[in-house]
Amino acid sequence: MNEQHLQLCSSDEWAEVVGQHIIPWALEGVELGDDVLEVGPGPGRTTDILRGMLPRLTAVEIDADLATALAARVGPSVEVVHADATRLPMDEDRFSGAVSFTMLHHVPTAELQDRLFAELVRVLRPGGVLAGVDSLDGEDFRALHVGDICVPLDPDGLAARLDGAGFTAVRVDRNEFAVRFRAEVPPGPSSTGTSE
Ligand SMILES: C[S@@+](CC[C@H](N)C(=O)[O-])C[C@H]1O[C@@H](n2cnc3c(N)ncnc32)[C@H](O)[C@@H]1O
Repeated sequence: MNEQHLQLCSSDEWAEVVGQHIIPWALEGVELGDDVLEVGPGPGRTTDILRGMLPRLTAVEIDADLATALAARVGPSVEVVHADATRLPMDEDRFSGAVSFTMLHHVPTAELQDRLFAELVRVLRPGGVLAGVDSLDGEDFRALHVGDICVPLDPDGLAARLDGAGFTAVRVDRNEFAVRFRAEVPPGPSSTGTSE
């Protein structure tokens, strides 16, 4: 992130936007379960809210300095992992839920964003849930990312991309500022309801 963007994502104003608008909207009607993965926590204003809501939270951050600072700040309440969410160092079928807040546009190509979706399918349990939000493209948004990676999601193509990564029950909608997405990993053979 460039310096201006980092300051914004660390600010109390951003914490209020996240707490009042982004997280309630992203998680409306979503049950994340008992073991949740957050990708791209950055300075952790989202993580601060999530850790008060969830019994177990793991946060994967690609920036070493941000990961170190977040781990020091949140202590044992969150397992902070310095890693690339397009290549997660976690076993398959582990998490009950995954969340992504305002981070996907920092993943440098659509192909890598799709790889990140596929990684989430791999590490989520059968029936596991993904919920996320990302900002819509626009002039102010681009201005905030000068000298920074900025590959915004196209809301119109997003459902097909989540489907293609292996998710089911995909729902995508948007408001004036952002796109919201929810999806599930298909249930495993034991939960399909068939007896054979
Ligand atoms: C704009 S910040 C958002 C931070 C936080 N989610 C929020 O909403 O306040 C995006 C974060 O995603 C991280 N990030 C980008 N690509 C990543 C990847 N492949 N794996 C993990 N984190 C990544 C960036 O380093 C940055 O800290």
